[in-house]
Amino acid sequence: MTFEVRPVRDEDRDWIRDLIEERWADEFVVGHGVVSRPAELDGFVAMEGVDVVGLATYRIEGAACEIVTIDALVEGRGVGSTLVEAVHERAHRAGCARLWLVTTNDNERAQAFYDKLGFRVVAVREGAVDEARKLKPSIPLIGAGGIPITDELELERRL
Ligand SMILES: CC(C)(COP(=O)(O)OP(=O)(O)OC[C@H]1O[C@@H](n2cnc3c(N)ncnc32)[C@H](O)[C@@H]1OP(=O)(O)O)[C@@H](O)C(=O)NCCC(=O)NCCS
Repeated sequence: MTFEVRPVRDEDRDWIRDLIEERWADEFVVGHGVVSRPAELDGFVAMEGVDVVGLATYRIEGAACEIVTIDALVEGRGVGSTLVEAVHERAHRAGCARLWLVTTNDNERAQAFYDKLGFRVVAVREGAVDEARKLKPSIPLIGAGGIPITDELELERRL
């Protein structure tokens, strides 16, 4: 598959809102106690011709860049890793020292993916998803493979 990655543009924001709602059950996500609206953030889109095949959104604060969401709409073909590298390059140019993100204990696929890309777990927040559910009741109780979603894992890669 040949796809191209480009920055998010203002005209993307309506479909990003819809995509996030479809993939993450609401137009906002909650991580480390913070509510984020991906459609309002900077990001990168992976396009194959006229079709969107992936989206990553991020936020730079000080010397740290957080990947807020990442979605590969076709999996196992390099879309996710290409989006991570696009954010990495952007963060590096912005002078960041750290690229980080939050995932959940059930998401073994994402954990294997980030492990392969050189991210390391720097914190495990037990029960953090139970807290997040108070802000976002649509977070499912049970995740991939029937695993209860309870904890947040913070992963980072030094830049
Ligand atoms: C996680 C996700 C972004 C990965 O995107 P992807 O495009 O499928 O990943 P890539 O094709 O770039 O894979 C990169 C590497 O990750 C590893 N990987 C990907 N999926 C894997 C899996 N299911 N099991 C083990 N390793 C996996 C592979 O080793 C791969 O390297 P390789 O190509 O040398 O084999 C994608 O599965 C996704 O959108 N998941 C749903 C949303 C989500 O959970 N986002 C992350 C929330 S924090």
